[in-house]
Amino acid sequence: MPDMAEPSASATSANGDHETRSYHKTQSAYALPNDNVEHQRLEMQHSLFIGLMGGRIIHAPLEHNISKAIDIGCGTGSVTHAIASAHPSTTVYGVDLSPVPQNIRTKLQNLYYVQCDFNELVAQNPPDPRFHPASFDYVYSRLLIYGITDWPGYLSRAIGLAKPGAWIEMQEADYHWYRVPTPQLTSTSSSLPPADVFAPHDMTLDELAADSHPSETFKSETLWSKTMNALLRAKQLNPHAGSSLASLMSDAGLTDIKICRYISAAGVWSGLTPEAAAFGEYVGKQTPLMYVPVLRKLGKETGWDEGEVEAAVRDLEKEFEGKENGQMLWFWVYVVCGRKPEEDAPRSREPLRGQWR
Ligand SMILES: C[S@@+](CC[C@H](N)C(=O)[O-])C[C@H]1O[C@@H](n2cnc3c(N)ncnc32)[C@H](O)[C@@H]1O
Repeated sequence: MPDMAEPSASATSANGDHETRSYHKTQSAYALPNDNVEHQRLEMQHSLFIGLMGGRIIHAPLEHNISKAIDIGCGTGSVTHAIASAHPSTTVYGVDLSPVPQNIRTKLQNLYYVQCDFNELVAQNPPDPRFHPASFDYVYSRLLIYGITDWPGYLSRAIGLAKPGAWIEMQEADYHWYRVPTPQLTSTSSSLPPADVFAPHDMTLDELAADSHPSETFKSETLWSKTMNALLRAKQLNPHAGSSLASLMSDAGLTDIKICRYISAAGVWSGLTPEAAAFGEYVGKQTPLMYVPVLRKLGKETGWDEGEVEAAVRDLEKEFEGKENGQMLWFWVYVVCGRKPEEDAPRSREPLRGQWR
Protein backbone atom coordinates (compact mmCIF):
# COMPACT_ATOMS: atom_id res chain seq x y z
CA MET A 1 0.00 0.00 0.00
CA PRO A 2 1.41 3.42 -0.89
CA ASP A 3 1.84 6.18 1.67
CA MET A 4 -0.27 9.21 0.85
CA ALA A 5 0.87 11.92 -1.52
CA GLU A 6 -0.61 15.31 -2.33
CA PRO A 7 -4.08 15.04 -3.83
CA SER A 8 -3.85 15.38 -7.58
CA ALA A 9 -7.41 16.61 -8.04
CA SER A 10 -8.70 19.98 -6.97
CA ALA A 11 -11.99 21.77 -7.32
CA THR A 12 -12.57 25.46 -7.42
CA SER A 13 -16.32 25.47 -7.09
CA ALA A 14 -18.96 23.52 -5.24
CA ASN A 15 -22.09 23.99 -7.28
CA GLY A 16 -24.81 21.38 -7.65
CA ASP A 17 -23.14 19.62 -10.56
CA HIS A 18 -21.30 16.56 -9.26
CA GLU A 19 -19.40 16.36 -12.54
CA THR A 20 -17.33 19.44 -11.59
CA ARG A 21 -16.08 17.70 -8.42
CA SER A 22 -13.39 15.01 -8.05
CA TYR A 23 -13.91 11.62 -6.42
CA HIS A 24 -11.89 8.60 -5.28
CA LYS A 25 -10.95 6.21 -8.06
CA THR A 26 -11.75 2.93 -6.29
CA GLN A 27 -14.63 0.45 -6.46
CA SER A 28 -15.95 1.67 -3.08
CA ALA A 29 -19.50 3.02 -2.93
CA TYR A 30 -18.25 6.16 -1.17
CA ALA A 31 -20.29 9.02 -2.59
CA LEU A 32 -18.66 12.29 -1.45
CA PRO A 33 -15.92 14.20 -3.28
CA ASN A 34 -12.23 14.26 -2.31
CA ASP A 35 -11.28 17.71 -3.60
CA ASN A 36 -10.09 20.87 -1.87
CA VAL A 37 -13.64 22.10 -1.35
CA GLU A 38 -14.46 18.87 0.49
CA HIS A 39 -11.24 19.12 2.53
CA GLN A 40 -12.24 22.59 3.65
CA ARG A 41 -15.70 21.33 4.60
CA LEU A 42 -14.24 18.46 6.63
CA GLU A 43 -11.81 20.77 8.40
CA MET A 44 -14.52 23.25 9.34
CA GLN A 45 -16.82 20.45 10.41
CA HIS A 46 -14.08 18.99 12.61
CA SER A 47 -13.48 22.25 14.46
CA LEU A 48 -17.24 22.64 14.97
CA PHE A 49 -17.45 19.04 16.26
CA ILE A 50 -14.86 19.89 18.92
CA GLY A 51 -17.16 22.64 20.21
CA LEU A 52 -20.27 20.50 19.89
CA MET A 53 -18.65 17.65 21.83
CA GLY A 54 -17.51 19.85 24.71
CA GLY A 55 -13.89 20.25 23.68
CA ARG A 56 -12.95 16.67 22.90
CA ILE A 57 -13.64 14.20 20.16
CA ILE A 58 -12.41 10.91 21.65
CA HIS A 59 -14.99 9.47 24.03
CA ALA A 60 -13.47 6.08 24.85
CA PRO A 61 -11.56 6.14 28.16
CA LEU A 62 -8.17 5.38 26.64
CA GLU A 63 -5.08 4.64 28.68
CA HIS A 64 -2.37 7.18 27.90
CA ASN A 65 0.25 4.60 26.93
CA ILE A 66 -1.63 2.54 24.34
CA SER A 67 0.66 1.22 21.63
CA LYS A 68 -1.40 1.27 18.39
CA ALA A 69 -4.46 3.15 17.13
CA ILE A 70 -6.23 3.48 13.78
CA ASP A 71 -8.58 6.09 12.32
CA ILE A 72 -10.52 4.42 9.49
CA GLY A 73 -11.68 6.78 6.72
CA CYS A 74 -9.52 9.53 8.18
CA GLY A 75 -10.35 12.19 5.54
CA THR A 76 -8.03 15.15 6.13
CA GLY A 77 -6.49 13.43 9.17
CA SER A 78 -7.98 15.81 11.73
CA VAL A 79 -8.81 13.14 14.31
CA THR A 80 -5.83 10.98 13.39
CA HIS A 81 -3.54 13.90 14.15
CA ALA A 82 -5.37 14.64 17.41
CA ILE A 83 -4.95 11.02 18.57
CA ALA A 84 -1.27 11.01 17.62
CA SER A 85 -0.67 14.36 19.40
CA ALA A 86 -2.43 13.24 22.57
CA HIS A 87 -0.59 9.88 22.58
CA PRO A 88 2.96 10.60 21.38
CA SER A 89 4.20 7.10 22.22
CA THR A 90 1.37 5.46 20.27
CA THR A 91 1.78 4.44 16.62
CA VAL A 92 -1.27 5.92 14.89
CA TYR A 93 -2.47 5.01 11.39
CA GLY A 94 -4.97 6.94 9.32
CA VAL A 95 -6.36 5.01 6.36
CA ASP A 96 -8.41 6.46 3.56
CA LEU A 97 -9.48 5.77 -0.02
CA SER A 98 -8.07 9.15 -1.07
CA PRO A 99 -4.81 10.92 -0.31
CA VAL A 100 -4.73 12.92 2.91
CA PRO A 101 -3.73 16.52 2.16
CA GLN A 102 -0.21 16.93 3.54
CA ASN A 103 -0.19 20.73 3.84
CA ILE A 104 -2.75 21.15 6.63
CA ARG A 105 -0.90 19.97 9.73
CA THR A 106 2.66 19.34 10.85
CA LYS A 107 3.98 15.82 10.32
CA LEU A 108 4.18 13.79 13.53
CA GLN A 109 6.75 11.03 13.95
CA ASN A 110 4.19 8.56 15.33
CA LEU A 111 1.55 9.16 12.61
CA TYR A 112 1.30 7.24 9.31
CA TYR A 113 -1.24 7.58 6.52
CA VAL A 114 -2.06 4.69 4.23
CA GLN A 115 -4.17 5.10 1.11
CA CYS A 116 -6.41 2.07 0.70
CA ASP A 117 -9.88 0.66 1.06
CA PHE A 118 -10.03 -0.49 4.68
CA ASN A 119 -12.12 -3.53 3.81
CA GLU A 120 -9.50 -4.71 1.31
CA LEU A 121 -6.63 -3.85 3.64
CA VAL A 122 -7.81 -6.19 6.38
CA ALA A 123 -8.78 -8.94 3.92
CA GLN A 124 -5.16 -9.35 2.78
CA ASN A 125 -3.68 -12.77 3.27
CA PRO A 126 -1.06 -12.84 4.65
CA PRO A 127 -1.98 -9.70 6.61
CA ASP A 128 -0.12 -6.45 6.10
CA PRO A 129 2.29 -6.55 9.10
CA ARG A 130 1.19 -3.06 10.15
CA PHE A 131 -2.43 -4.21 10.39
CA HIS A 132 -2.10 -7.59 11.98
CA PRO A 133 -5.31 -9.00 13.53
CA ALA A 134 -5.77 -8.26 17.25
CA SER A 135 -2.92 -5.74 17.33
CA PHE A 136 -4.70 -2.39 17.93
CA ASP A 137 -5.61 -0.80 21.27
CA TYR A 138 -8.03 1.67 19.73
CA VAL A 139 -10.09 1.52 16.54
CA TYR A 140 -11.89 4.72 15.58
CA SER A 141 -14.01 5.91 12.68
CA ARG A 142 -16.23 8.92 12.00
CA LEU A 143 -18.81 9.61 9.32
CA LEU A 144 -18.47 6.62 7.00
CA ILE A 145 -22.23 6.66 6.35
CA TYR A 146 -21.66 7.46 2.65
CA GLY A 147 -19.16 4.63 2.22
CA ILE A 148 -20.03 1.47 4.16
CA THR A 149 -22.36 -0.95 2.42
CA ASP A 150 -22.18 -3.72 5.03
CA TRP A 151 -22.07 -2.39 8.58
CA PRO A 152 -21.99 -5.79 10.36
CA GLY A 153 -19.09 -6.83 8.09
CA TYR A 154 -17.30 -3.50 8.59
CA LEU A 155 -17.70 -3.72 12.36
CA SER A 156 -16.46 -7.30 12.39
CA ARG A 157 -13.35 -6.23 10.43
CA ALA A 158 -12.77 -3.33 12.84
CA ILE A 159 -13.14 -5.70 15.82
CA GLY A 160 -10.77 -8.13 14.12
CA LEU A 161 -8.01 -5.50 14.31
CA ALA A 162 -8.61 -4.82 18.01
CA LYS A 163 -6.74 -6.49 20.86
CA PRO A 164 -8.81 -8.11 23.60
CA GLY A 165 -9.79 -5.26 25.95
CA ALA A 166 -9.36 -2.59 23.22
CA TRP A 167 -11.93 0.15 22.60
CA ILE A 168 -13.78 0.53 19.33
CA GLU A 169 -15.39 3.94 18.81
CA MET A 170 -17.64 4.92 15.93
CA GLN A 171 -19.27 8.30 15.38
CA GLU A 172 -22.01 8.29 12.78
CA ALA A 173 -24.86 10.35 11.47
CA ASP A 174 -28.39 9.00 11.31
CA TYR A 175 -30.65 10.48 8.63
CA HIS A 176 -33.85 10.44 10.60
CA TRP A 177 -34.62 14.13 10.24
CA TYR A 178 -36.42 16.23 12.86
CA ARG A 179 -38.03 19.62 12.48
CA VAL A 180 -38.66 22.28 15.08
CA PRO A 181 -42.42 22.82 14.85
CA THR A 182 -44.07 26.07 13.72
CA PRO A 183 -41.17 27.30 11.57
CA GLN A 184 -43.09 30.49 10.90
CA LEU A 185 -42.29 31.57 14.48
CA THR A 186 -39.17 33.58 15.07
CA SER A 187 -36.25 31.98 16.82
CA THR A 188 -37.08 33.96 19.97
CA SER A 189 -40.51 32.39 20.30
CA SER A 190 -41.36 30.87 23.67
CA SER A 191 -43.30 28.13 21.84
CA LEU A 192 -40.13 26.36 20.81
CA PRO A 193 -39.49 22.96 22.43
CA PRO A 194 -37.50 23.10 25.69
CA ALA A 195 -33.74 23.27 25.25
CA ASP A 196 -33.19 19.80 26.76
CA VAL A 197 -34.80 18.27 23.65
CA PHE A 198 -31.70 19.39 21.74
CA ALA A 199 -29.07 18.71 24.41
CA PRO A 200 -26.47 15.95 24.07
CA HIS A 201 -27.56 12.87 25.96
CA ASP A 202 -26.37 9.42 26.93
CA MET A 203 -28.63 6.49 26.14
CA THR A 204 -28.86 2.83 27.00
CA LEU A 205 -29.55 0.19 24.36
CA ASP A 206 -33.07 -0.19 25.78
CA GLU A 207 -33.71 3.58 25.64
CA LEU A 208 -32.50 3.64 22.06
CA ALA A 209 -34.76 0.73 21.13
CA ALA A 210 -37.76 2.35 22.85
CA ASP A 211 -37.52 5.55 20.73
CA SER A 212 -38.85 7.43 23.75
CA HIS A 213 -36.67 10.55 23.77
CA PRO A 214 -38.81 13.74 23.64
CA SER A 215 -37.25 14.61 20.28
CA GLU A 216 -39.01 11.63 18.67
CA THR A 217 -42.26 13.60 18.36
CA PHE A 218 -40.49 16.00 15.99
CA LYS A 219 -39.50 13.47 13.32
CA SER A 220 -40.09 14.92 9.88
CA GLU A 221 -39.67 13.55 6.36
CA THR A 222 -39.46 15.67 3.25
CA LEU A 223 -39.42 14.74 -0.41
CA TRP A 224 -35.68 15.44 -0.57
CA SER A 225 -34.82 13.50 2.59
CA LYS A 226 -36.96 10.54 1.52
CA THR A 227 -35.32 10.53 -1.91
CA MET A 228 -31.84 10.85 -0.42
CA ASN A 229 -32.43 7.92 1.94
CA ALA A 230 -33.92 5.81 -0.86
CA LEU A 231 -30.88 6.54 -3.04
CA LEU A 232 -28.51 5.63 -0.21
CA ARG A 233 -30.37 2.34 0.26
CA ALA A 234 -30.24 1.68 -3.48
CA LYS A 235 -26.44 1.87 -3.17
CA GLN A 236 -26.60 -0.54 -0.16
CA LEU A 237 -25.65 2.35 2.14
CA ASN A 238 -27.51 2.66 5.44
CA PRO A 239 -29.02 6.11 6.13
CA HIS A 240 -29.63 4.97 9.71
CA ALA A 241 -26.11 3.79 10.46
CA GLY A 242 -25.88 5.96 13.59
CA SER A 243 -28.79 4.40 15.42
CA SER A 244 -27.80 0.88 14.28
CA LEU A 245 -24.29 0.92 15.70
CA ALA A 246 -25.02 0.11 19.33
CA SER A 247 -27.07 -3.00 18.65
CA LEU A 248 -24.55 -4.12 16.02
CA MET A 249 -21.77 -3.76 18.61
CA SER A 250 -23.81 -5.63 21.19
CA ASP A 251 -24.62 -8.42 18.71
CA ALA A 252 -20.94 -8.63 17.81
CA GLY A 253 -20.12 -9.34 21.47
CA LEU A 254 -18.60 -5.99 22.47
CA THR A 255 -19.01 -5.07 26.14
CA ASP A 256 -19.26 -1.81 28.11
CA ILE A 257 -21.26 -0.23 25.29
CA LYS A 258 -21.72 3.50 25.67
CA ILE A 259 -24.04 5.57 23.51
CA CYS A 260 -24.50 9.29 23.29
CA ARG A 261 -25.99 11.63 20.73
CA TYR A 262 -25.24 15.17 19.66
CA ILE A 263 -27.50 17.39 17.61
CA SER A 264 -26.46 18.16 14.05
CA ALA A 265 -28.67 21.16 13.37
CA ALA A 266 -29.12 22.45 9.82
CA GLY A 267 -30.03 25.92 11.02
CA VAL A 268 -30.10 28.08 14.12
CA TRP A 269 -32.87 28.57 16.66
CA SER A 270 -33.32 29.53 20.27
CA GLY A 271 -32.54 26.69 22.69
CA LEU A 272 -29.39 25.53 20.95
CA THR A 273 -26.16 25.97 22.88
CA PRO A 274 -23.75 28.43 21.24
CA GLU A 275 -21.69 25.46 20.02
CA ALA A 276 -24.71 23.65 18.54
CA ALA A 277 -25.81 26.94 16.95
CA ALA A 278 -22.35 27.46 15.39
CA PHE A 279 -22.56 23.92 14.02
CA GLY A 280 -26.11 24.55 12.80
CA GLU A 281 -25.21 27.79 11.09
CA TYR A 282 -22.47 26.10 9.10
CA VAL A 283 -24.43 22.94 8.30
CA GLY A 284 -27.45 25.06 7.34
CA LYS A 285 -25.38 26.75 4.65
CA GLN A 286 -23.63 23.53 3.60
CA THR A 287 -26.69 21.27 3.34
CA PRO A 288 -27.84 22.27 -0.16
CA LEU A 289 -24.22 22.61 -1.39
CA MET A 290 -23.36 19.14 -0.15
CA TYR A 291 -26.57 17.22 -0.85
CA VAL A 292 -27.44 18.43 -4.36
CA PRO A 293 -24.35 16.85 -6.00
CA VAL A 294 -24.86 13.69 -3.90
CA LEU A 295 -28.49 13.36 -4.99
CA ARG A 296 -27.49 13.72 -8.64
CA LYS A 297 -24.47 11.41 -8.38
CA LEU A 298 -26.39 8.66 -6.59
CA GLY A 299 -29.30 9.16 -8.97
CA LYS A 300 -27.07 8.63 -11.97
CA GLU A 301 -25.23 5.65 -10.47
CA THR A 302 -28.42 3.86 -9.51
CA GLY A 303 -30.32 4.66 -12.72
CA TRP A 304 -32.97 6.47 -10.65
CA ASP A 305 -35.68 8.35 -12.50
CA GLU A 306 -34.08 11.71 -13.34
CA GLY A 307 -37.35 13.56 -12.90
CA GLU A 308 -37.64 12.27 -9.33
CA VAL A 309 -34.07 13.24 -8.53
CA GLU A 310 -34.57 16.76 -9.93
CA ALA A 311 -37.84 17.09 -7.98
CA ALA A 312 -35.90 16.22 -4.81
CA VAL A 313 -33.21 18.77 -5.74
CA ARG A 314 -35.86 21.48 -6.22
CA ASP A 315 -37.49 20.53 -2.91
CA LEU A 316 -34.15 20.75 -1.11
CA GLU A 317 -33.23 24.07 -2.72
CA LYS A 318 -36.67 25.51 -1.92
CA GLU A 319 -36.33 24.38 1.70
CA PHE A 320 -33.10 26.31 2.20
CA GLU A 321 -33.67 29.15 -0.30
CA GLY A 322 -32.98 32.59 1.14
CA LYS A 323 -32.59 31.19 4.68
CA GLU A 324 -29.44 32.87 5.89
CA ASN A 325 -29.27 30.59 8.95
CA GLY A 326 -30.54 27.38 7.35
CA GLN A 327 -33.74 25.62 8.33
CA MET A 328 -35.02 24.49 11.73
CA LEU A 329 -34.06 20.91 10.95
CA TRP A 330 -31.74 18.48 12.63
CA PHE A 331 -30.53 14.90 12.85
CA TRP A 332 -28.51 13.14 15.53
CA VAL A 333 -24.88 12.15 15.40
CA TYR A 334 -24.30 9.01 17.45
CA VAL A 335 -21.10 8.29 19.34
CA VAL A 336 -20.90 4.63 20.26
CA CYS A 337 -18.02 2.93 22.05
CA GLY A 338 -17.63 -0.74 22.88
CA ARG A 339 -14.89 -2.92 24.20
CA LYS A 340 -13.59 -6.16 22.76
CA PRO A 341 -13.94 -8.67 25.61
CA GLU A 342 -10.81 -9.90 27.34
CA GLU A 343 -10.35 -13.55 26.53
CA ASP A 344 -12.50 -15.66 28.89
CA ALA A 345 -14.13 -12.55 30.44
CA PRO A 346 -17.87 -12.80 31.22
CA ARG A 347 -19.94 -10.70 28.84
CA SER A 348 -21.92 -7.71 30.14
CA ARG A 349 -24.58 -6.05 28.00
CA GLU A 350 -25.14 -3.29 30.54
CA PRO A 351 -23.86 0.10 29.41
CA LEU A 352 -21.50 2.04 31.64
CA ARG A 353 -23.14 4.90 33.50
CA GLY A 354 -21.52 8.08 34.70
CA GLN A 355 -19.16 10.63 33.26
CA TRP A 356 -17.71 9.53 29.98
CA ARG A 357 -18.53 12.41 27.69
C1 LIG B 1 -17.18 12.12 5.38
S1 LIG B 1 -15.48 11.75 5.30
C2 LIG B 1 -15.06 11.83 7.03
C3 LIG B 1 -13.58 11.99 7.23
C4 LIG B 1 -13.12 12.00 8.70
N1 LIG B 1 -13.42 10.73 9.34
C5 LIG B 1 -13.80 13.11 9.44
O1 LIG B 1 -14.67 12.85 10.24
O2 LIG B 1 -13.42 14.29 9.20
C6 LIG B 1 -15.40 9.99 5.04
C7 LIG B 1 -14.02 9.51 4.64
O3 LIG B 1 -14.04 8.08 4.67
C8 LIG B 1 -13.28 7.61 3.57
N2 LIG B 1 -13.74 6.24 3.30
C9 LIG B 1 -14.98 5.85 2.96
N3 LIG B 1 -15.03 4.50 2.80
C10 LIG B 1 -13.77 4.05 3.04
C11 LIG B 1 -13.16 2.76 3.01
N4 LIG B 1 -13.85 1.65 2.70
N5 LIG B 1 -11.84 2.65 3.32
C12 LIG B 1 -11.12 3.76 3.61
N6 LIG B 1 -11.64 5.00 3.65
C13 LIG B 1 -12.94 5.15 3.36
C14 LIG B 1 -13.57 8.61 2.48
O4 LIG B 1 -12.58 8.58 1.46
C15 LIG B 1 -13.62 9.92 3.25
O5 LIG B 1 -12.35 10.55 3.29
